[in-house]
Amino acid sequence: QKKFEYLKVGRCGEENKVAFIELYRPKALNALCNGLMLELNETFDWIDNDNTIGCAVITGSEKAFAAGADIKEMQPKHFSEVYRDNFLEHWNRITRLRKPIIAAVNGFALGGGCELAMMCDMIYAGEKAQFGQPEIIIGTIPGSGGTQRLPRLVGKSKAMEMVLTGDRIGAEEACKFGLVSKVVAPEKLVDEAIKTADRICQHSPLIVKMAKEAVNASFEMTLAEGVHFEKRMFHQTFATSDRREGMTAFVEKRKPNFSNE
Ligand code: CAA
Repeated sequence: QKKFEYLKVGRCGEENKVAFIELYRPKALNALCNGLMLELNETFDWIDNDNTIGCAVITGSEKAFAAGADIKEMQPKHFSEVYRDNFLEHWNRITRLRKPIIAAVNGFALGGGCELAMMCDMIYAGEKAQFGQPEIIIGTIPGSGGTQRLPRLVGKSKAMEMVLTGDRIGAEEACKFGLVSKVVAPEKLVDEAIKTADRICQHSPLIVKMAKEAVNASFEMTLAEGVHFEKRMFHQTFATSDRREGMTAFVEKRKPNFSNE
């Protein structure tokens, strides 16, 4: 696997089908500088293009998932520059990842760090994780989906509270509000995320992509449009070998052998 400056990237899981990304910029609490984001995007291209990978896990350190966009990099910037160059636009690459990605969050997930976690498909948190959108404290607002994804996940009142005060919430509260789906001991977090990734890898990679696309459509469509889209995708699974194999295996009381076709 390629050596990066700000990431450790590898493979893990029972059948080596899980891509594992560790944000590694310890001196800055994994602040998301441009170099780090470019390396992440390169890694996402690899994950999407490698058919032997079924799912991904992204994590940081025990102290910080990521403390946000790099404030020292942003500090001297002016409107003309950020507008002209569409600053942070490339952060969205992760939302076009077609395979599932699980964020395993220990420590701080602040600003862009919280936004990066919310762009993943699910978030698991260590007991000491802290989530926040503290941009207001430094005179700006969330710039990578925080004002849009957070209210969809935790509701208006909690999102407003977090975005307007800059206050952080802990893992339990994040779980109660639906931002996080599982809270575990910090040292067990990564294993727990890999275990879930492994479960996903047991299914047909083709159908997993369809399921992810269908759930994501629910955030972009009305209920009627979404249900219609789902029905079309459901019918499309009947055009695949893996749908036939899955149901045949059930009927024959054996394990399915999926082909990604
Ligand atoms: N950018 C750049 N450097 C950062 C950083 C960030 N977001 N967060 C932490 N660091 C650096 C610190 O500057 C410090 O470096 P030096 O030792 O060179 O001074 C190092 O990481 C350790 O940080 P602290 O000494 O501050 O550690 P702490 O434990 O006392 O505090 C913290 C931890 C509460 C997370 C604090 O570092 C903090 O508040 N960080 C900023 C959080 C923030 O505001 N994030 C939002 C950024 S804006 C954004 O993300 C925009 C967007 O929506 C995309």
